[in-house]
Amino acid sequence: MKITSFPEYEQAYKKSVEQPEQFWKEIADNFLWRKKWDKILNWNFTEPKIEWFKGAKLNITENCLDRHLETMGDKPAIIWEPNDPTEDHRVLTYKQLYDKVCQFANVLKNNGAKKGDRICIYMPMVPELAIAVLACARLGAIHSVVFGGFSAQSIADRILDAECNIVITTDGGVRGDKKIPMKTVIDDALVRCPSVKKVIVLTHTRTPVSMIKGRDVWWEDEIKKVETQGNKEFIAEEMDAEDMLFILYTSGSTGKPKGVVHTCGGYMVYAGYTFTNAFQYEPGEVYFCTADIGWITGHSYIVYGPLSQGATTVMFEGVPTWPDAGRFWDIVDKYKVNIFYTAPTAIRSLMSFGDEPLKGKDLSSLTKLGSVGEPLNEEAWHWFDERIGKKKCPIVDTWWQTETGGFMISPIANVTPLKPGYATLPLPGVQPILVDEKGEEILGNGVSGNLCIKFPWPGMLRTTYGDHERCRTTYFATYKDLYFTGDGCLRDEDGYYRITGRVDDVLNVSGHRIGTAEVENAINMHSSVVESAVVGYPHDIKGQGVYAFVVCPNQHGDQELARKDIMMTVSRIIGAIAKPDKIQFVTGLPKTRSGKIMRRILRKIAEGDTSNLGDISTLLDPGVVEDIKAGAL
Ligand code: WT7
Repeated sequence: MKITSFPEYEQAYKKSVEQPEQFWKEIADNFLWRKKWDKILNWNFTEPKIEWFKGAKLNITENCLDRHLETMGDKPAIIWEPNDPTEDHRVLTYKQLYDKVCQFANVLKNNGAKKGDRICIYMPMVPELAIAVLACARLGAIHSVVFGGFSAQSIADRILDAECNIVITTDGGVRGDKKIPMKTVIDDALVRCPSVKKVIVLTHTRTPVSMIKGRDVWWEDEIKKVETQGNKEFIAEEMDAEDMLFILYTSGSTGKPKGVVHTCGGYMVYAGYTFTNAFQYEPGEVYFCTADIGWITGHSYIVYGPLSQGATTVMFEGVPTWPDAGRFWDIVDKYKVNIFYTAPTAIRSLMSFGDEPLKGKDLSSLTKLGSVGEPLNEEAWHWFDERIGKKKCPIVDTWWQTETGGFMISPIANVTPLKPGYATLPLPGVQPILVDEKGEEILGNGVSGNLCIKFPWPGMLRTTYGDHERCRTTYFATYKDLYFTGDGCLRDEDGYYRITGRVDDVLNVSGHRIGTAEVENAINMHSSVVESAVVGYPHDIKGQGVYAFVVCPNQHGDQELARKDIMMTVSRIIGAIAKPDKIQFVTGLPKTRSGKIMRRILRKIAEGDTSNLGDISTLLDPGVVEDIKAGAL
């Protein structure tokens, strides 16, 4: 299933369009199925209904673990680097990982978990997070991992939406010099979540926690029980290809995050296929993805993709700049990392520290680099290429989304000719098209438009949990018979794709997706706020920063305090990741006569470009614009 030359890529691409079912059948044959499919693909984008490998039976963990045991049991599956570099790292071989996953699947079973249950996982980047994810999959429970940076309120919303009955967490977490009281946050969340019957708590930081009798149990105690029972194995649950594997919440243009649903068969095939191809993974290579498993990148390219391909995947608990800005390079040096996959915001941030943190770091093991999350600007591309890759490592700029499950538009390392700033060409099986506002296809090269996909691929979302209509309206109703990505895109003279950013009300802050409506809702919760409007503005490190215009008439004079109060509110409601970078107090917002906020004007002001605000004559009160301009930050 590996493509090794550009002509092979072109051939594979052609086949994937002309005979998609045959194409994906041959890829799927590389995986372990208990029973093969009755039909490769059923689909329509109207309902939408998407089924890949229907009727096939499998368990993804047999593909990630069991099938490697005989040939690679002693090879490292996960290398874990702790936050504190003076503490011991951990290596789990495939056999050890297998044993731990079986053990923990037994723990889940002892605690009442069954196939189809939803289990919320809220953990820092420790190996047990990967173990918990895989144990859920082995048992057939649907995992919903919530990123450690979300607030109690956000977690509660996600637990309620999915009606989770079990939560897996740790006493605490550490990132750099910050401590996160994970269990306390869960306790706050669970006040609102009667569906949760069990909380399994891993000891990690030895932070004091309150354990509620009958509900909360220690991970270690439960493992001991399984050992006493003598249960070493856990026979993997047989799943249909279209059974749900996981839910992952993501933001859109409305105030409420939605639970993107991925299923077992198609997702597995897609994550494995794209991992092997884009990175041209070779047996024995050490692969390091710096993402958190709380995001889709970690699901697909720390856990499922690499493990399904028998790769060695590095998991890092900490942050790139602690104890200093050389941390990633220390890790590369320490484990002789070959493939390094990170985010533009991290590259830009590390770039700003200059060459000092690179001194004395041996990066010669690196052969391939990757980037994801937002456009990789040319300056950062060149720095990554020269300083990190020493001009000998291809950079795979992978464009994809939580909803796509895996890479969509991406170079294949050492196969696709690169162009800085470009995600280059669609992978086989991916049929992008550009459309105008009306949904008319924009043909030819050297054109820009809204990026859509016109044919299904195995890794695509199937629904949004508990609300299929929302899935339809969000992704399949904007343009008839197309999946709409929400991104703007340029196709240049050579047919190369360059993603230009979101065209909906979604911000991309340090690669994190944040809905402006969500932030506005949070700000509006603050007692003295009347209303607010949130837009993005260009930010050197984060890509986009959050700019909030807030109407707050009854402040008691101290603007700084009022700003801090609002920040605190956003942290409480969503999480620290959504805190505005700038808050401007205004007397009113620019609205049309029908009451619609003219974000276009606010965006211009936030960008610092007030020379041409366009037509403002339709505004109810054009005067507010002058006030806002005068007070711009
Ligand atoms: C949005 C998806 C997919 C994992 C990380 C984020 C932006 C993602 C790129 C890229 C330009 C990119 C898009 C996309 N994006 N990768 N290589 N070049 N933009 O996942 O939270 O689902 O966000 O991230 O705007 O729609 P996500």
